[in-house]
Amino acid sequence: MWSRLFETDPEVFRWIYREIQRQHETLELIASENFASPAVLLAMGTPLSNKYAEGYPHRRYYGGCQYVDEVEDLARERAKQLFGAEHANVQPHAGTQANQAVYAAVLQPGDTILSMELSHGGHLSHGSPVSQVGKLYRIVYYHVHPETEQIDFDEVRRLALEHRPRLIVTGYSAYPRTIDFQRFREIADEVGAYLMADIAHIAGLVAAGEHPSPVGIADFVTTTTHKTLRGPRGGLILTQAKYAKKIDKAVFPGLQGGPLMHVIAAKAVAFAEALTPEFKAYQHQIVLNARALAQRLQERGLRLVAGGTDNHLMLVDLRPLGITGKVAEEALERAGITVNKNTIPFDPEKPTVTSGIRIGVPAVTTRGMKEPEMTLIADLITEVLEAPDDEARIQRVREAVRDLTERFPLYPDYRSWMEAAQKT
Ligand SMILES: Cc1ncc(COP(=O)(O)O)c(C=O)c1O
Repeated sequence: MWSRLFETDPEVFRWIYREIQRQHETLELIASENFASPAVLLAMGTPLSNKYAEGYPHRRYYGGCQYVDEVEDLARERAKQLFGAEHANVQPHAGTQANQAVYAAVLQPGDTILSMELSHGGHLSHGSPVSQVGKLYRIVYYHVHPETEQIDFDEVRRLALEHRPRLIVTGYSAYPRTIDFQRFREIADEVGAYLMADIAHIAGLVAAGEHPSPVGIADFVTTTTHKTLRGPRGGLILTQAKYAKKIDKAVFPGLQGGPLMHVIAAKAVAFAEALTPEFKAYQHQIVLNARALAQRLQERGLRLVAGGTDNHLMLVDLRPLGITGKVAEEALERAGITVNKNTIPFDPEKPTVTSGIRIGVPAVTTRGMKEPEMTLIADLITEVLEAPDDEARIQRVREAVRDLTERFPLYPDYRSWMEAAQKT
């Protein structure tokens, strides 16, 4: 499919092929990554990329939008059907922009947001001082409880009563347990705050009923479309009809210019895929796989934050092994296993070093791996973490990873692409 690109720009496409090869030959365990279907990737490579369509379907600021209007209508309707929402805005370029649009829609600069601290599982766009969000709004952080390592609702309520936030944010980047959206709603109602649920990580699980849905509970639900949802890189906002105008205005013209119509087409394709029974089965397998991987890691003596996982990811506390997240990430990468170093709650290390790694299974589950492969992967990870300097051992693990990835090809046409690439 992509081999023709070599004829026009071999310099760039050499690296594209290397990347495809890397994705094929390694175990992708970054919790926020996935492998979109060929249909999703194809939609992104269409001439819809050429079209300017500022505005919304049937009310654009440019001519010639009659066909892209249909595409955006399809994406919006499918998103609404998938999540049972009254209104969908499919234009946010990414998850960060979706969140910023919600803030812009209902907050004034200086208003207070109550959100989870980054090092406890929150996201930069929930108010980090290094993001525009942290500069524009007053941020108060809640945390997980030091003993359970799960959301400390007593603290959330106490901080809400004390600081009277205008918006409470739930939904995380590194939280392995089920989120009780109803508890957040009750606290938000008690203090008259809006509630935003950022389900970027768990959107696929929510769509398939593997995690409770915040739709109908939170005022605003934001997500990325590229993580468990397995679509193109992008953002999505779901809300009630009464907030539709405010949200649409905040996205365009508030924050963004012309929408990426090729990406919106790919979102429509991904939402249709997510409505199938196969996708439901895939999300169920994610949960089974995460549980199997977590269980084996624990059997091998590793400590998991919050005692395990209910969703697609887990956090390993590396302090008992005497190594940092940075060392672990690098050693695992040499073994062909891709994870990311991650702070754990109350982490004594800097975010560039960390005491933990985050492991997620959506991508390997897309490749068709199931519980037996999860047990093997847990063993391979443990072998590396127990001796991150033992290069001979790392090479042995690398070979085992290569065997495993060969058994589960990334894309059906992978081999023919590689052959074509090698000929150029
Ligand atoms: C909870 C959460 N929200 C938002 C985002 C931001 O998404 P993006 O990278 O598309 O801006 C992420 C990304 O990791 C996330 O984990």
